[in-house]
Amino acid sequence: MTNKFIHFIANWKMFGDINSINSLNKVIKFSNIHKKNKYRIIYCPPYTLLNLFSRKVKNTRIMLGAQNCHHEQNNSAFTGSISAKMIKKIGAKYVIVGHSEVRADGETDLIINKKIKTLINNGLNIILCVGETLSQRKKKQTYKILKNQISRALKGIKKKNNILIAYEPIWSIGTGIIPKIFDLDKDIKYLKNFLLKKIKIKKPKILYGGSVNDKNIIDLKKIDILDGFLIGGASHSPKKFIDIIKKTFI
Ligand code: PGA
Repeated sequence: MTNKFIHFIANWKMFGDINSINSLNKVIKFSNIHKKNKYRIIYCPPYTLLNLFSRKVKNTRIMLGAQNCHHEQNNSAFTGSISAKMIKKIGAKYVIVGHSEVRADGETDLIINKKIKTLINNGLNIILCVGETLSQRKKKQTYKILKNQISRALKGIKKKNNILIAYEPIWSIGTGIIPKIFDLDKDIKYLKNFLLKKIKIKKPKILYGGSVNDKNIIDLKKIDILDGFLIGGASHSPKKFIDIIKKTFI
């Protein structure tokens, strides 16, 4: 994995307040020193911190992402929502869509598809999350679920080079459990082939997410076709987050 360009995405979910800004100091320092390795750090804090984080990461190697956005075009009457244009204006470059926690809250494949179109129109990069439940896995429906989620999310979309696919088995998110490396390797290969041949993405990029930490990264990094990691809990600690990055390249 060491010769490739690796994404480390910090998904802070509904955590963090104005004091959390200080936790970026160590990560900025680290990224200033370790310039040689090919990696990209993307912080996705809650909306309330986007402005603060944006100012903090200006002129650093760290990029900014949002955890969601509204699917409709800009400047519409949607109380409580944030548009793609607003996210772009604040300086973010990425937006997460299709996270299982958002899907569980009512985000459908159709809404995801609309969001992706809106994000592309606004020149933003997309982190599309897909993943199966444990019962679907046990019933050997994983590939069917992933293929459906991806095909529906990307229906009618021609410009697909700005989309990262994050494979996040739902049973792995926040549980401390990761798939067996052998199985995950096989699943990522399957997904890459599907994206290449059926979805016609020339250079598909796949991330893994779900309980990534500074210990299991030693095994996860063996999957050399992975293009990075979407990290929840472990990304709140700058030390753990930096360790994950360091260990990926050792
Ligand atoms: P986790 O979350 O690393 O805490 O499992 C990952 C995610 O939901 O993106």
